[in-house]
Amino acid sequence: MIRVGNVTIEGDVALSPMAGISDSPYRQISRRFGSAFSYTEFVSTEQLKIGNVKTLDMFRFQEMERPIVFQIFGSDLDTVVHASEIAAERNPDIIDLNMGCSVSKVSHNGSGAGLLKNIRLAGQMIEGIRLRTGLPVTAKIRLGWDSLTLNYLETVKVLEGSGVSAISVHGRTKAMAYTGIADWNAIGEIKSRANVPIYGNGDVQTYQEAIDKKKQYGVDLILIGRKAIGNPWVFGKIAKKNIPWLQIKSVILEHLDSMLDFYPSTDDYALILFRKHFIKYIENLGFPEETKRILLTVTSVNEFKERLESAKLDSKVWEISEMKNENINCETFVSLV
Ligand SMILES: Cc1cc2nc3c(=O)[nH]c(=O)nc-3n(C[C@H](O)[C@H](O)[C@H](O)COP(=O)(O)O)c2cc1C
Repeated sequence: MIRVGNVTIEGDVALSPMAGISDSPYRQISRRFGSAFSYTEFVSTEQLKIGNVKTLDMFRFQEMERPIVFQIFGSDLDTVVHASEIAAERNPDIIDLNMGCSVSKVSHNGSGAGLLKNIRLAGQMIEGIRLRTGLPVTAKIRLGWDSLTLNYLETVKVLEGSGVSAISVHGRTKAMAYTGIADWNAIGEIKSRANVPIYGNGDVQTYQEAIDKKKQYGVDLILIGRKAIGNPWVFGKIAKKNIPWLQIKSVILEHLDSMLDFYPSTDDYALILFRKHFIKYIENLGFPEETKRILLTVTSVNEFKERLESAKLDSKVWEISEMKNENINCETFVSLV
């Protein structure tokens, strides 16, 4: 159990914030499967400021998702602080400042990982949000802009001085984006010096690995991102590879129905959004290519469900293979929708 300001968080592993993935339907499923708390997708403070309805909608959540953390990003102090007040009206438990997004149009604009180049400003943001909203404020950082400017210890110190309540650390630099491997020694070093809870993040593949890393590096919690897509079982002790297809199928249908409820437009909009989850749910399950192709292109929900029901899996292909993560990043799914 950890305390983040006045909020109690129980559990060892949580769903990492992911644009296009960690919406309310998937947060609900993850929470039910064991994710310790919920993190929204990152939300633009510029858009919040101008009252963009779609942006505000990203803060819709169900009570069962609590503790719920609203993640925001921005580069302008007044805008960020003002937007945090708008966010706070929706009653989150915690507000998180994104200091890790590596995508150029975010980070080169001074927000996301761009804040690693201006940690005083990030500190002012943390303090401003805290004072304006009265909520605990956390931050999600990377190790630095690039390997020549690793400033993680200084960043943590500045954020602590600004009253941050916890820090998530993705063990890569901005320049690495999603390449190479996360540096868990650096994450451990941060933990050993920090005075606030530290969540470790980067490349964790399984629940057991999360538990092992939590112990080895002493962090307070582990965040899992890419390996949690289509795999809420990663938050519990029984790995997906040991779950019968019928159960996987029922979670797929539950997830789709929840998206249909959450995105009330024409049916196929939610189904199209669901494809990025679906492709990961059925990864390595022995789906014949042609069946996969059809399921990923049908636009009628009824047809999708009927075809899924009658799909025949090739049981010989039940195997775990390495997830090819390199090409998935925080822009991947946003650009799909
Ligand atoms: C599709 C995608 C979207 C992401 N969106 C966000 C985001 O909105 N906010 C954030 O802080 N990190 C975001 N990230 C980064 C993840 O939270 C996480 O830090 C990163 O993927 C490393 O963890 P992993 O190796 O477990 O995936 C995103 C990552 C991916 C793959």
